[in-house]
Amino acid sequence: MNILENISLKTFNTFGIDKTARFFVSVKSIEELKEALVWAKSQEVNPLILGGGSNILLTQNQETLVIKIELEGIKIVQENDEFSFVEVGAGVNWHQFVLTAIDNNWAGIENLSLIPGTVGASPMQNIGAYGVEIKDVFWSLKALNKETLEIEEFNAEQCQFGYRESIFKHELKGKYVICSVIFRLRKDPVFHTEYGAIQETLEASGIKELSLKAISDAVIQIRQSKLPDPKEIGNSGSFFKNPTIPTEQYESLKEQYISIPGYPNSEGTKVPAAWLIEQCGWKGQRFGEIGVHAKQPLVLVNYGDGDGNEIKNLAIKIQQSVIDKFGISIHPEVNFL
Ligand code: EPU
Repeated sequence: MNILENISLKTFNTFGIDKTARFFVSVKSIEELKEALVWAKSQEVNPLILGGGSNILLTQNQETLVIKIELEGIKIVQENDEFSFVEVGAGVNWHQFVLTAIDNNWAGIENLSLIPGTVGASPMQNIGAYGVEIKDVFWSLKALNKETLEIEEFNAEQCQFGYRESIFKHELKGKYVICSVIFRLRKDPVFHTEYGAIQETLEASGIKELSLKAISDAVIQIRQSKLPDPKEIGNSGSFFKNPTIPTEQYESLKEQYISIPGYPNSEGTKVPAAWLIEQCGWKGQRFGEIGVHAKQPLVLVNYGDGDGNEIKNLAIKIQQSVIDKFGISIHPEVNFL
């Protein structure tokens, strides 16, 4: 085990924030992960587990051991007539896994193309896009209990998935390290093209026959047209979650703001945070090295040398303006560290 000291985390978070790790180690096996956890315990520090760093905002130097998960591997562990059950290492890049699935004709995650981050982080916040969430294809996961150092298996019900939520962000926060995820992927695809932008993109490209690749290409095209590439402009995808408000509140807002979009769900009406933020005048605003993306105001960006605290303060101002104008609280999807 090679523990490094005082390492910049700039290339390990998609926001590109330049904070440091007091100690840093990459782990390529469960044995190495256990060793790193034991070492952290001996130093009396609570380690920070890092995947692709695509859902974090670093606001300070990390005076602890940062453990970068590099557990690899994609393999079929079981199959039947309908499904292939595929186990994927937590360190596998999410989009690489999507591409492997498409190559192998494993259906179900094509709508989730180009989401930054790693497979291990995907169940944490039940990643989703274009009408599909990971819970739709999730079978189980294996996670290391940080106290007992035993591997435990969790099925979908035990993960308590919700919109950008799971038990690992709540009751079990910080208690487990996800090591691998088993996905149940269809042999015969069921295409999800109901999302407007997908339909339009497929039509525009003149696709005659639907395929996993065609959908994936459409999703990639949509994402590239709206979302900044973290390699070019630091960002963490959607910074806020879309709020669900009581339908009565939505109806009364609609009297004042005729164009307010709303999507009914079991808890009320979901309102796009992007719309709320745009109405408050933030879209495309730049403040020195940070700002609000011009094509998707739900995305906050770091143009280069931005600081995590500046982004945090901007997020607080945006939240306040949405409360002042609409009486709606919006909450970050990103974790502040
Ligand atoms: N909108 C605006 N102005 C804009 C952009 C969007 O008013 O500049 C409004 C429009 O009404 C639009 C609506 O927002 O119809 C929804 O926009 P979009 O389709 O871009 O989706 P989103 O709700 O903003 C969510 C996810 C994304 C995911 C897309 C597509 C959350 C927090 N975000 O964004 O996920 O890619 O849907 O399914 O749920 C991520 O989590 O990092 C992420 C990118």
